[in-house]
Amino acid sequence: MEVQFTLNGKKVSTEIAADTVLLNLLRDLGCKSVKCGCETTNCGLCTVWIDGKSRLSCSVLAASIDGHEVTTLEGVEKEAAEFGSFLAQEGAEQCGFCSPPGFIMNVLAMFRELKNPSIEEIKEYLAGNLCRCTGYMGQLRAIQKYMEVRNTAVNITVKKMGGGEE
Ligand code: FES
Ligand code: FES
Repeated sequence: MEVQFTLNGKKVSTEIAADTVLLNLLRDLGCKSVKCGCETTNCGLCTVWIDGKSRLSCSVLAASIDGHEVTTLEGVEKEAAEFGSFLAQEGAEQCGFCSPPGFIMNVLAMFRELKNPSIEEIKEYLAGNLCRCTGYMGQLRAIQKYMEVRNTAVNITVKKMGGGEE
């Protein structure tokens, strides 16, 4: 069967078997950032965005994305690299297996959805992203520092546009 969708901003049309899983299709199409850690919806490693929302690509049939928009880490490379540098500064990149795409895609999705999440909201949002290397404190610190820098940048922009206090 044929499936047509938008992948990282480009139209794609390809033949697939009816039981093709999205994770495998994306890798076949060259998006090697998408990784498989469990195939049972437990690790979060295969996270991509479908129409802007985080989804586990190991649990999505490729046939169901016909007409939809899929984004992988390759589609948000600049933003991902920026956040990745905060992970590295906190020593939280470690083996790097869980970060791209799972953890990073979900963090970026969180910031699109929640402007200024609390610690509890961050923990809840990322509860499905497992890391085998260690605890999650370094990752949490990286998110908080990234948030600080983003908020400062937003405030500066608002002030430049005349929206801030004198
Ligand atoms: S491979 Fe999809 S959740 Fe683990
Ligand atoms: S950094 Fe190694 S599994 Fe998460």
